[in-house]
Amino acid sequence: MKQLAINGGIPVRTEPFPEWPIRDEHERKAVQNVIEGGKWGYPEWEYVPRFEQHFAVYHDAKFGICFNSGTSALMGALWAAGVQAGDEVVLPAYTFIATAGAVIQLGALPVFADIESTTFHLDARSVDEHISARTKAVIAVHIGGRSADMSRLQGVCEYHSLALIEDAAQAWGAEWQSKRIGAFGDAGVFSFQSSKNITSGEGGIVLTNDEKLAQYCRSFCNCGRREDKPRYKHYYIGGNYRMTELQAAVLSAQFERYPNQLRIRQKNAAYLNTELAKIDGIVPINVDENVTSNAYHLFLLRYKRDYFDDVSKSRFIQALQAEGVPAHPGYTLPVYKQPVFVERLFGAQGKQDTTHPDYGNLHLPETENVCSEEGIWLTQNVLLGTKKDMQNIVEAFQKIKNNIQELSEVKNTAPGKNQSPCQNR
Ligand SMILES: Cc1ncc(COP(=O)(O)O)c(C=O)c1O
Repeated sequence: MKQLAINGGIPVRTEPFPEWPIRDEHERKAVQNVIEGGKWGYPEWEYVPRFEQHFAVYHDAKFGICFNSGTSALMGALWAAGVQAGDEVVLPAYTFIATAGAVIQLGALPVFADIESTTFHLDARSVDEHISARTKAVIAVHIGGRSADMSRLQGVCEYHSLALIEDAAQAWGAEWQSKRIGAFGDAGVFSFQSSKNITSGEGGIVLTNDEKLAQYCRSFCNCGRREDKPRYKHYYIGGNYRMTELQAAVLSAQFERYPNQLRIRQKNAAYLNTELAKIDGIVPINVDENVTSNAYHLFLLRYKRDYFDDVSKSRFIQALQAEGVPAHPGYTLPVYKQPVFVERLFGAQGKQDTTHPDYGNLHLPETENVCSEEGIWLTQNVLLGTKKDMQNIVEAFQKIKNNIQELSEVKNTAPGKNQSPCQNR
């Protein structure tokens, strides 16, 4: 008789993992206050500036500027750091499209450097190799909530006099060498989109210690206005990327709950790190003593098919899902392999723009390997489960390992419906 649930066996679990977002009376009351108070957005706002301040203080940054999304916040941070049309920006391709999209929307050119297979983060050596006379900035993405190597990336940027922007869209409260990320470089950008560990459905924020950069960011976000000038005078071309009071009210409630949730995720992740590492061929992203706090937006691991009878990653994930573990294949394409990049469809209505390099011929081996072969994610809501939930996860991995011949017998590598209940972006 077959053992694996994908083949009709009994699944390890059928109960769902914690639902996301977690919400209660705090969100309800905050939103009700805003609705009843009648001040729903700029220029009469209270929740937005208060949240900006709380979030900046939490990350040891001097200034916070709320945006309506992480994507617009990235554009604001890049613009405020001086990135303009024709400049090159070095960044990883193992990220959400917005990291590169923000660069393109400013008319600048994304230049993709490779990642380290052991961390899924930008490799400082590869960054160095991709710097040219046109390079203006580097974007470090803290993937999954774990800080990139800020010491080395800062070193490269200082050496070449480049702006360093942190894409911390997934990394609220993460630390590198006991310092919270976000204001290591010139600016850090966070997202509050619905899958994120602190969410208002949509939203973003830029953090910085640089007063001038903060002013530019605020102006970019607010139609090119200047705070010290009359409302209908416009000094730059910005947009309306402002956050509403309703969003900030929800965030204020979410943020109160955050430290406790962070502790739970970290405790559960520590258990998974230890237990899953005991299974040959499963490699949780390595423990690095410089990463003193991991926000665990994602629990990231590497799958080594050589230890699993050459069963593909997608087949292995299907088997995990059948056992009741909502594993996710993550980004299965490097950004430069997305159709828009392969064809360079960056113009209006998707018209081709050949001023960009030919991304179709780009090949970054570590990035491609993580995308197609090794990277597996568990999403943050899973990490809010109980000890028993975590034991079930380990049990499911072990069960598949013990019965791997059931998967290798059927050489079926068709991609499955690899979706987690907490849809990641
Ligand atoms: C790494 C990364 N960068 C940027 C973004 C863009 O943020 P948003 O969806 O809030 O625009 C996201 C999230 O969606 C992300 O995960």
